[in-house]
Amino acid sequence: MKILFFDHSLVYGGAEQSLFSVLPALKPPIETVLLVSQKSSMIKRAESLNINCRTIKLSPRLTALSRGRLAGNLLNPLLWRDVSIAQKALTEAVQKEKADIVYANTLKSAILLGLCRKKIPQPQVWHIRDIVSGPSSVLLGLVGRISRPKLMAVSRAVAGQTALKFSSTPATVIHNGIDQEKWLFESRRQKPEEIKAKFGIKPGESLIGVFGQLSAWKGQEHSIRALAHLKKRGFLCKLLLAGDAIFAEQGYPEKMKNLAGSLNVSEEVIFSGWLENTAPYMAVSDIIVHTPVKPEPFGRVLVEAMALGKPVVAIKNGGIPEIIDHGRNGLLLESPEELPFVLERLLCQPSQAKTMGDEAMRQVKLKFNLSDTVSRISDFLMEAGR
Ligand code: GLC
Repeated sequence: MKILFFDHSLVYGGAEQSLFSVLPALKPPIETVLLVSQKSSMIKRAESLNINCRTIKLSPRLTALSRGRLAGNLLNPLLWRDVSIAQKALTEAVQKEKADIVYANTLKSAILLGLCRKKIPQPQVWHIRDIVSGPSSVLLGLVGRISRPKLMAVSRAVAGQTALKFSSTPATVIHNGIDQEKWLFESRRQKPEEIKAKFGIKPGESLIGVFGQLSAWKGQEHSIRALAHLKKRGFLCKLLLAGDAIFAEQGYPEKMKNLAGSLNVSEEVIFSGWLENTAPYMAVSDIIVHTPVKPEPFGRVLVEAMALGKPVVAIKNGGIPEIIDHGRNGLLLESPEELPFVLERLLCQPSQAKTMGDEAMRQVKLKFNLSDTVSRISDFLMEAGR
C-alpha cells in the first residue's frame, strides 16, 4: 500500500521531526513517499535517511503565509491563484506516484489536500498536530466537511478541539514516541565539559534549558523573568535558550535580548541559536522548562528531556498534562507567574529533582516509545486504506 506523505513546510520543526522518526520505521506492505516543497530544508535530511522523497513547486507566498493569515486572506485572488497551482501540482504528484492514500502532516498541507478532493479520490489521512481557533478553525472545519479525511491527533487536547467536530468519528490519539536508546546515544555526542566551557558555565552554576523555536507563543520571556528573580535571590544559574526564530518571527530574539538587558541578566542568558542536535544540550541542563502561552498541542520537547532523565517544569495547557504527571515525573504550573518560585524550590531540592527525572525516564520508556507510536500509526494507515 503506497502512501504519499505531504508536508508543505520549508523548515524542520516539531511536526517534521516527528514524521522523520516514523517514516523510516514503517515497514511493508506500507510503501512510503514523501512530498515536500522544492525549497524545503527537508530534502537533504530525507536523502540521508534513505526516505523516498519527491518535490513540488509551491509559491513562496503560500508557504510563508501563517495559518491565521491564510484564513484571513481567503478573498485574495492572488492567494487563490497560488492555491490552484498547488492543487494542480499535488494532483499530478499523487497520480504519478499511484498512491493509495494521501497523508497530510501539517494543517496547511491538510487544507491544500482537502481542497483537491474532487481530483484526488484516494482516502485522506490528516495528522493533526495543532490547536487552532478563530478563522483557521472555521476554514479547517469547512475543508474537513467536504473532504472527509480520517484523523489522527497528537494528543487528547488536539483531538477534542472544536475545529475537528466536522468528523463523525473522533480523531485517533497517538502520542509522539521517541527512540530513547538512540536519543541517549545522541546526547553523548558532545562532552558536557565542552558545552559548559563554550557557554562559560562555572562550577557550581546551574543551567536551566529552554528548547524550541524562539517565538512569542513559546513564552521564552517567562524563563528570562524567572532567571532575573533567581539572580536576585542569590542563585548561581544560567539560562540556555536553544532555538531560533522560524516562521517569520524574526524580531523576537532581539526583543528577548533587550528584555534580558533590562532585567540585568544579559550575562546569564545564552542564546545558542538553532542547534542541529539538541540532545547533548538537554543532557547538560539541570532543569528543562517549557511555558508556551497558547495551548501546546503535544510538547515533544518534554518527552525528549524526560527521556534523558531530566526534571521538567511546564505549564498546564494543551497536551502537556498528558505527558506530565504533576509531582511524579515533572512539575506543572497553573500560570507562568509561578515559574520563578517553582524553580527556586526545585533548585533547593536536588534530590527531588533527581527522583522526578528518574521517574520521567521510566515513563518515557513505558508510554512514549517510538516502536509503539510507529505500530499504532501503521495500523491506522492500514485501516484507512481498507
Ligand atoms: C508540532 C506541535 C508540538 C508537537 C509536534 C510533534 O510541532 O506544535 O506540540 O509536539 O508537532 O507532533
